[in-house]
Amino acid sequence: MLLKNKNGALPLKNGERLALFGKATVEYIKGGGGSGDVYPPFVCNIADGFAQKGGRFSVCQPLLDFYKAYVETEQKNVLTDEQINATWDIVNAMEFCQKRDDMTYDTFQAMHVKEAAVPDELIDEAASFADTAIITLSRFSAEGTDRRPIPGDYYLSELERDLIRKAGERFQKVVVVLNSGAVLDCEPLAENDGVDAVLLGWQGGMAGGAAIADVLCGDVCPCGKLPDTIAKSYDAYPTKDDFVEDLHYLNYTDDIYVGYRYFATIPGAADAIRYPFGFGLSYTSFALAGAVCGEQDGVITAAVRVTNTGKVSGREVVQLYYSAPQGRLGKPARQLAAFAKTKRLAPGESETVALSFAVNSMASFDDLGKVAASAYVLEKGDYAFYLGVSSAECNKLDFVYTVREDRITQQLTRLCRPFKLPRRMLADGSFEVLPMGEETHALGRQQPCSAQAPEKPVPFDEVGTACTMDEFVKQFTDEELMDFVGGQPPTGVANTGCFGGLKRLDVPAAATADGPAGLRLAKDTGIPTTAWPCATLLAATWDVDLVYRVGRAAATEIRENNIAIWLAPAMNIHRDPLCGRNFEYYAEDPLLAGKIAAAAVCGIQSARVAVSLKHFACNNKEVNRYGCDSRVSERALREIYLKGFEIAVKEADPWTIMTSYNLINGQHTSENYELITGILRGEWGFRGMVETDWGVKNDPVQEVLAGNDMKMPVGYPADLKEALEDGRLTRADLEVCVKRILEMIEKLAD
Ligand code: BGC
Repeated sequence: MLLKNKNGALPLKNGERLALFGKATVEYIKGGGGSGDVYPPFVCNIADGFAQKGGRFSVCQPLLDFYKAYVETEQKNVLTDEQINATWDIVNAMEFCQKRDDMTYDTFQAMHVKEAAVPDELIDEAASFADTAIITLSRFSAEGTDRRPIPGDYYLSELERDLIRKAGERFQKVVVVLNSGAVLDCEPLAENDGVDAVLLGWQGGMAGGAAIADVLCGDVCPCGKLPDTIAKSYDAYPTKDDFVEDLHYLNYTDDIYVGYRYFATIPGAADAIRYPFGFGLSYTSFALAGAVCGEQDGVITAAVRVTNTGKVSGREVVQLYYSAPQGRLGKPARQLAAFAKTKRLAPGESETVALSFAVNSMASFDDLGKVAASAYVLEKGDYAFYLGVSSAECNKLDFVYTVREDRITQQLTRLCRPFKLPRRMLADGSFEVLPMGEETHALGRQQPCSAQAPEKPVPFDEVGTACTMDEFVKQFTDEELMDFVGGQPPTGVANTGCFGGLKRLDVPAAATADGPAGLRLAKDTGIPTTAWPCATLLAATWDVDLVYRVGRAAATEIRENNIAIWLAPAMNIHRDPLCGRNFEYYAEDPLLAGKIAAAAVCGIQSARVAVSLKHFACNNKEVNRYGCDSRVSERALREIYLKGFEIAVKEADPWTIMTSYNLINGQHTSENYELITGILRGEWGFRGMVETDWGVKNDPVQEVLAGNDMKMPVGYPADLKEALEDGRLTRADLEVCVKRILEMIEKLAD
């Protein structure tokens, strides 16, 4: 994604002499760490990418040799697998504390070599050879800990700034490439006349270096758009205080004002935007003309003609935003309603794109009963629309949709309310006090099913012909039911365990594997797999067809390896740029995240691989992730944090969903009946199965009652047995979970 391009610095011209700076020229960061890491057969770095350009560019060899030698030497000092595993053993045995977090953070940071200090003479030598300096700055983060607002992480280090300064003084042109899975400080680049161009290349997977070279050389015209707002400083984000306030809770005081919703709405906040949500430059230019917009049968449609007015072929992303009347609830000044990407347009070529969305999707959730309690309401007034190419660069359309009287679009009930969130932000930047109180959480019980077990045992593949699924489940003994709701040992190359598997009734075990950046198999299987671009990069394409194809291709490889369930995609909202797992997630906006996730799910499941949409929900911080309580209003939950999941569930029918490690409003998500049974199944009509995230220590009895069907990676049959005996659990409660697991396994069959 091209953020800056002064005087057409990019694309590079054939014959340009290049000096490649930055250790990521050689040690390119293909993706993030933890369960989302993948072991590919090779990683194409940026130097390799240019080497593939067949002599069109000359690269300063002494400088490249310096980085190669540096990386080779330093790689001997990065932690070995044994050292890393030994640290994890210590860390995992510790109760959560700052020291544990520091150890986790330091270990991940020590997995790659640090940036190199280049001797001044070498910079001089490179400058006497090359016209253009290409400086790649890289970042790495992983699950279990967050990034930090310090030099070398969110901010550029002194060494990086120094290199940029020296390059600016010596080279005609300086291009900075950012190789990071998440947003970092761009101020030293944006405002710096010594930097001509900035390409945010994210973490592009095993072919990332080649892709960067393609874009820099102009073989591919950049067409990505930011899925997040880049602010002028970390301190400008509304989350900066509560993100670090306490290790045991996270107060979502910014409420629905997340990302551009905050920057576009709160008085004065827009001044702090460096690169707005939806922004991205191209090597060509586009004109949008003849926009029309109207409403019919509850659907608003806008159409616009996009013409490539520049000199090279390219694609544009058209974005439609709405602004709802402030009313009694208060609204963001802009909310993304729909988007569409053009095909590749040749110079002079045009395409008319149409974008539509339901009027009702503009409704707000009234959690305090200011208009109608626990209802989605369209408040009366004028709804305005903005069409353009970023959240900041869009024009108000003539069409206005007027609601004469407050309209309830959906009456729901009170679910997942906060008890300890003291206040939340309003549209004018002030805060309203929220009601607090003693925590109470609903619990579910299942009615016994009247089906009878068949007289003779029926095997699984005869369900539907010899008996119904309900009758099949009746064949399970109590012990088998209790075993079945827990994960089973891995089979084949799987390393995260299996769902199902009951020999007596011929139920196959369905193997799971991580995601989301590719099929993650253990290194010692010796089976390299494709490392795809990180999720944020995929979202930055704003290209649902492409993401569908990536999902389908990934799933084909997954199926070839006899894996049935892919623990992907991950789709938590980028609430704060420092969340350690942002690289695994899509965006700060739930519509973009939801549409991209839906496309991924459809692609993956088209190859008969089950997805596991994760982490449901509010896994927006990694520090103390097992114990951190996400305190969030019902409104922000529904409009922001659950909305993407809701879109993916309704549009793509994911076969499984993984609950998260964190708590929501005082309750662990896997034990949360209101979340799983109330909202996910009850309101959205989710038909699949739900599993825990791996190794949560939550109460397995409570999980069954909440509707969390499977405990991973292993179950706790003894605890369930005790509960069955003392009446806290019934056979009916277990049967429902088992049935949902079986129905999922049934879908996997060809
Ligand atoms: C992660 C999940 C992952 C699981 C299995 C957990 O630590 O949070 O995203 O799928 O492990 O590896």
